[in-house]
Amino acid sequence: MPLGRPVNEASGARALREHFRRRHGREPRFAHAPGRVNLIGEHTDYNDGFALPVAIDLWTSVAFAPREEARWLVRSESFAIGVEGAPGDQVELRPDEGPRVHWSDYPTGVLRMLLETGVRVPGATLEFASDVPAGAGLSSSAALEVATANALLALAGEERDGAEIALLCQRAENEFVGMRCGIMDQLVSCLGRAGEAMLLDCRTRAVRFVPLPTGVDLVIVSSMVRHALAAGEYNARRSECEEAARILAEEAGRDASRPPSLRDATLADVEHSRSRMTDRVFRRARHVVTENERVLETVEALAVGDLERVGGAMARSHASLRDDFEVSCRELDSLVEIASSEPGVVGARMTGGGFGGCTVNLVRSASTRSFCEAVCERQAAATGQAPDLWVTSAVSGARVE
Ligand code: GLA
Repeated sequence: MPLGRPVNEASGARALREHFRRRHGREPRFAHAPGRVNLIGEHTDYNDGFALPVAIDLWTSVAFAPREEARWLVRSESFAIGVEGAPGDQVELRPDEGPRVHWSDYPTGVLRMLLETGVRVPGATLEFASDVPAGAGLSSSAALEVATANALLALAGEERDGAEIALLCQRAENEFVGMRCGIMDQLVSCLGRAGEAMLLDCRTRAVRFVPLPTGVDLVIVSSMVRHALAAGEYNARRSECEEAARILAEEAGRDASRPPSLRDATLADVEHSRSRMTDRVFRRARHVVTENERVLETVEALAVGDLERVGGAMARSHASLRDDFEVSCRELDSLVEIASSEPGVVGARMTGGGFGGCTVNLVRSASTRSFCEAVCERQAAATGQAPDLWVTSAVSGARVE
């Protein structure tokens, strides 16, 4: 059974250390940043809304050491993102040039943002390794950005708090890579806490930690559909939300000094303005405002141990992402349908940006093994391909050693 337990972080780092020593003949330091899964609150972050992500036990690590000359050389056996070069090729970061459509665009973007904000980053050699699967909706990009930022700041001898690092990484992705992502992934990769989910208010960026229920496992199942080309669709959703927010702000006569945001709207507002929107824009707005409510409902339900209510909110979230926001796909829908009929499942939904990627499942521990077996078998029968899955846990965010 392809029960993909994550590679143990310590052993991954040990291999990276040995590799670095052999190749570069010196002792490196390390930065580690985790991937994330979002329990609920999807496509709400760039609408100033609420989200409930968890940092997970899948990591991007970078071994690094300064160089004499002012050049930044990066290498990775793990990454095969991009059209240029092969895994294992050494690449020089060129922060004064544009993106190359290569995994090194993420470190380059981070380096450029640091240099722009006046951080004097010395030349360095960086070797990356990662067990966060790329294109699977588990924030491999954020983990790569955050690990890079921590390494480059350590090289420069500077300290920044997690929220500042997250914002800088988000800017790198928005402005350099060209993906207009929100702040959720980078923030939880920086600030996540072991055993807890992070309630994030994306308007104020305030976070509150919510303990995960005991006796329940966090199981991530891959649709095996990579969302490699999803940036265009993602950016389009974001524009549709902006249009809805503009219409609603006009309708409410809100003053124009603050950018319009769906955070300010209720479901009644959205319904009231329906005739002024295209059907598509209306449904995008309905998803966002109802999803915000579902996040708060989930947090309340977790606080009192009402797992049935948690599961209900997750099911409605999935339906809304499928029907109103239109970011699910056949393979994700099939996984959620299968999970919902398996014993011991508290809740299941797609997670992350969508167009492929993974589902997040809360499963009572006693049922986890049979759940994993059943999902593999039934999804293979439904789609012709058995999924990868990870039984994972909530970990603390990024660190440097
Ligand atoms: C991607 C983005 C996040 C967020 C999610 C959807 O993961 O990077 O900022 O918008 O999609 O919730």
